[in-house]
Formats: sequence, structure tokens, C-alpha cells
Amino acid sequence: MAIHFAKRITEYRLAKELFSYGKEIIVSPEAQATRNYIQHGETTVFEHCLGVAKISLLIANSIEKTLGIKVDKRSLVRGALLHDYFLYDWHDKAPGRNVHGFTHPGIACRNADRDFELNDIERDIIKKHMFPLTPFLPMHRESFIVTIADKWCALAETFNVDISSYLIYRINFRIALLNGDYSVDYGETAAVN
Ligand SMILES: [Fe+2]
Ligand SMILES: [Fe+2]
Repeated sequence: MAIHFAKRITEYRLAKELFSYGKEIIVSPEAQATRNYIQHGETTVFEHCLGVAKISLLIANSIEKTLGIKVDKRSLVRGALLHDYFLYDWHDKAPGRNVHGFTHPGIACRNADRDFELNDIERDIIKKHMFPLTPFLPMHRESFIVTIADKWCALAETFNVDISSYLIYRINFRIALLNGDYSVDYGETAAVN
């Protein structure tokens, strides 16, 4: 029981930190549209990107604490939130989908550059997140962190292991409050993580 509450408190703090850095992106109609696309298993692109941003923040917090290495967490979160901003269903059979794994980082970066104001670190995170599948070496520590977090989340989602449902619940709750909806229950009791 104590472990359960400790985990919830950690997730609550991470959701707060993630929202403070990524609010502009999270609440935008463009990013909200990624709820309509499935990424892995039953996880939507929106949920996947929240999960990647969360694991990235966890890694960043731990290397800051243990190694004293500074991480640009705002860029880290924003880049993670936009790393799969390709805005289509990659499972459909449209032309070019067979090379989606190689082409989507560039498409996501062009879309993100069009819809948001990005810095060099955020662009590098998005463009290089498929390393080493794509041979473009990440140039910032934030980009390396996201490549690791992305692979970890993809694995968990593919094998249906829940690692982010409570954080996603907290983010959805914050979005609802921002929209003036005080009645919403996104199913906290169903969140098992
Ligand atoms: Fe990706
Ligand atoms: Fe991803």
C-alpha cells in the first residue's frame, strides 16, 4: 500500500512538471488530434508521447540528481511531446507507409516547425529519435534521453504493460479543468499504475 501511494505521488509530481513545460503543446487542438491515431497496441499517439515525456523526465531528474548533469527539461518535454507529430495513421496502407519508420521523424519535425516555435534541441530530439534505426546521431543529451524513453515506452505498449495510465489520467484531468469542466472523471479507479 505504501509503495502504491509513493508511486502515485511520484506520478502526480511528474504530471505537474510535465504540464508546466508542455502545456502549450498538450492543450493545442493540433496535438489533441493525435488522440485519433493508434501508435502501439491500444495506445494512442497522444498517450505514447505523454509516456515518452514522462520517462524522459524521470531519466533527466535522476541524472541531474545522481551525476549533477544539467538537462534542459523544457526542451526535453516539448521535443518528447512532438517526437511523433506525423499526424496520420501509420497502420493504413497509404503510399510510403512501408518506410514510415525511417521517414516519420522528418515529417514530424516539419509539422512541429509549422505549428509551434521550436528551438535547435527540440528539432534535434524529433529528427533523431529513431536512432540507431536512422543513422543520424543525436547532438544533445536531451535527444539521447528521448531515444531511450521512446524505445522503453514502445516495448511496454507493444506488450501491454501499463507504465503511464495514472500520469495520463492526471494530464487529462488538468486539461478538463482548463476547459472549465469540473465534472469529468477520467476513470481514476481504472488507472492501475
Ligand atoms: Fe517515432
Ligand atoms: Fe515514439
